[in-house]
Amino acid sequence: MQKQPSKAQNATHTKILPKKILIFASENGSNFEAIAKHFQQKAFKDKVNIELLTDNKNAYAIQRAKRLNIPYFYVPFENLYDFLKPRARQYDLYVLAGYMRILPEKILNLGAVFDKTGKKIQNKFINIHPSLLPDFKGKNAIQQAFKANAEKTGITIHFVEKKVDSGKIITQKSTAAAGKTLAELEKSIHEIEHRIYPEIIENLLFKKNVLLFGGGAREHALAQKLLKSPFLDTLYLANPNDGFKRLGKTVKFPRTSNPAADYDTLAKNARALNIDLLVIGPENPLFEGISDIFQNEGIKVIGANKKWAALEGSKSFAKIFMTKNGIKTADYKILTDCTPEKIKETLDYFKAKSQTPPVIKADGAALGKGVYLPETFEEAEFETDKFLKGEFGEASKKVVLEERLFGKEVSLLSFWDGKTLVSFPPAQDYKRLLDNNKGKNTGGMGSFAPVKISVTEQKRLEEYQNALKTALLKENADFKGIIYSGLMLTKNGVYVLEYNMRFGDPETQVLLELLDTDLLYIFLKTADKKLNEIELKFNKKKAYCVVLASEGYPDSPKKGAVIKNLEAAEKYGCKIYFAGVKSVKNPAVQTYSNDTAALTVNGGRVLSIVKSAYGGKSALDSIYKTAAKIEFEGKIYRKDIGKIYGKKP
Ligand code: AMP
Ligand code: GLY
Repeated sequence: MQKQPSKAQNATHTKILPKKILIFASENGSNFEAIAKHFQQKAFKDKVNIELLTDNKNAYAIQRAKRLNIPYFYVPFENLYDFLKPRARQYDLYVLAGYMRILPEKILNLGAVFDKTGKKIQNKFINIHPSLLPDFKGKNAIQQAFKANAEKTGITIHFVEKKVDSGKIITQKSTAAAGKTLAELEKSIHEIEHRIYPEIIENLLFKKNVLLFGGGAREHALAQKLLKSPFLDTLYLANPNDGFKRLGKTVKFPRTSNPAADYDTLAKNARALNIDLLVIGPENPLFEGISDIFQNEGIKVIGANKKWAALEGSKSFAKIFMTKNGIKTADYKILTDCTPEKIKETLDYFKAKSQTPPVIKADGAALGKGVYLPETFEEAEFETDKFLKGEFGEASKKVVLEERLFGKEVSLLSFWDGKTLVSFPPAQDYKRLLDNNKGKNTGGMGSFAPVKISVTEQKRLEEYQNALKTALLKENADFKGIIYSGLMLTKNGVYVLEYNMRFGDPETQVLLELLDTDLLYIFLKTADKKLNEIELKFNKKKAYCVVLASEGYPDSPKKGAVIKNLEAAEKYGCKIYFAGVKSVKNPAVQTYSNDTAALTVNGGRVLSIVKSAYGGKSALDSIYKTAAKIEFEGKIYRKDIGKIYGKKP
């Protein structure tokens, strides 16, 4: 598939200046050697220059440098600043690899880039520490872990700040410590260091350009998270909304009546901009084959190909996939173009099984709205007929009737790279429009994560993930992206209600609050089919999201009202992610972000208010204070986000 070599490999053609790194080592220098060998590979020829610096005349690292033909400098610590100052501009990165001195701030600042306000926005010093920080800081970290009988330990790569072993963490990798001798533990830690440090350095030297497709609150949240990555060069946005377009550079996306041609144009533009990775938010582009088109252009993609997007796009495709592979899902019947007798006969089938009428689902995608939960069999008959007559256009000309399930509903979002499946903690979505889970089905009116689950449920969820992984492997589902399992935890086990092949909205807004691992790093590993190489770390916070929508949603939301008091979010420590908004030039009204334009309502779901905290409930209080303060005509929102609903049989 990959037509294009990676940017690193491509460098000679585009005449990028070689990158230069200075490695600091005081003694043995085994990390120095691993890094040097990595960049002496052919792929990096003329692209990376390495030099060694040591404060110890007798460091064995010097012998290694001689052997590897790498320039080295012996610089006594007192002379370090004077040595570095005139050369500082030459280096792209300073790598500490067993350097036994604490660097003063004036040296750390030599590598830094500051913004207009004096805030440090780029730090060029990195270090590797042989423990999972904040555990076992300082010297002899492996021995410390060993003596403490730690279950596991590992390595941390982090930026260097004035305070020892406290800078922003870039990545961590763990290894089991229990049962190992000290020598065995040292060996396994060094093995991890030598593998991961060069890779992280490569990612920091050759940063990535990312194109994010989509203009909802989910994409706003994704954009914000991607901007935190030290591996990001430029963020490009296709179809952003006016509430977050300032976060990146907008790429023109001319929409015509021919989606394939549009995506082709976009992919060619992306190639010209040296975009390395496309991340797709919404489902429609996936159904229309955007992934396949970008991959053919040699651009990596996070998002299912057309074939596998059908797990979301066609309920019957999903049902067949599940039944074939022993994944539990509600018993179902498919109806197309049929007589009233046939509808009755099918409903009788469900009546014979239980007294609960089946759920009616349009086969095709209907923006999360093509599902009806009838209370009586008469209602079921009436609605099925309406669906088949085209209530949701082509999408409902084929209908799936399925047994109604009862239990706790959770959204399980997973990364899939064709080989490895890794999941977020389960999230709760509030799909119905009104409090107490009443009213119409919507895209989602709020969310929280993680959902508290019992030990048995946890075990069952793990079994479900194994079953899903086995099924995907068996079916050779060779795509890289997201699988969102809409699950019902019933007394008979985990049942799948639906698959989505993308991040959920508003689940993403809360799940990203819990994720401590760099999102771009996860994406890159997924795209390279190397998800097995990283660990996802989640913090212990509780995150909530409340959606402000506009009256008339989901059918015909009111548009045009000016949104006011957005600064309330800052006061209460909440984040705002914009969805259906549009900026309108109108200096007469209240403005946002010192802009001369005002944001106005331009869609059903207007914005998400998000906060996370260790205490949980305090976050929810702040969100509701913000929700009350923000004003626009026709504002509606649910007041019961965070409340647990478990449907009982
Ligand atoms: P879907 O779009 O398939 O997720 O359906 C929308 C919502 O309808 C789900 O989130 C559930 O709350 C509900 N639902 C769908 N299928 C079932 C089912 N078989 N039993 C009970 N509720 C269901
Ligand atoms: N929150 C449900 C969805 O994203 O489809």
